[in-house]
Amino acid sequence: MTDVQTRTDNQPERTDATSTRRVVLLSAGALGAGAVLTACGTDTSGTNPNGSDFNNDPAPAGSTGAQADSAGGNAGKVLVAASEVTVGGGVIKDDLVITQPEEGTFKAFSKVCTHQGCDVTEITDGSILCKCHNSAFSIKDGAPTAGPAAKPLAETPVKLDGDNVVAA
Ligand code: FES
Repeated sequence: MTDVQTRTDNQPERTDATSTRRVVLLSAGALGAGAVLTACGTDTSGTNPNGSDFNNDPAPAGSTGAQADSAGGNAGKVLVAASEVTVGGGVIKDDLVITQPEEGTFKAFSKVCTHQGCDVTEITDGSILCKCHNSAFSIKDGAPTAGPAAKPLAETPVKLDGDNVVAA
């Protein structure tokens, strides 16, 4: 005979060792399920300094989401001097990648990679690069052009104001 007891609704809740063991076993099961879910990613070889719950979806207009905090909620805020942004290239400033695909045309994107949330780190030959798993994005529209990333970098509206690129 075992010491496992079945509780019915008209019995008082047990607080002895059997009940405690049940709680411990349920907790261990929940932790195990979490570990399994964590291991289900497509590629966990890179590091994600932004945490596993990043969200690079564009924030709705007028929201106070991360994109709005970067620039959209601060219309007119100076982001970078236009002279710092090379034609056909760009610069990474704070949370944004600011590019100039053609002379006088400026774009800004979130620097958070849409694959697994690493920060992009380099702009070379018309591409924004994420070294975690070698995704590349166009400096024109943030669209993925290589690597595992499938979604574009979130764009933030900007404009040229005098000598500066500012939030629009
Ligand atoms: S996080 Fe994987 S390529 Fe950027």
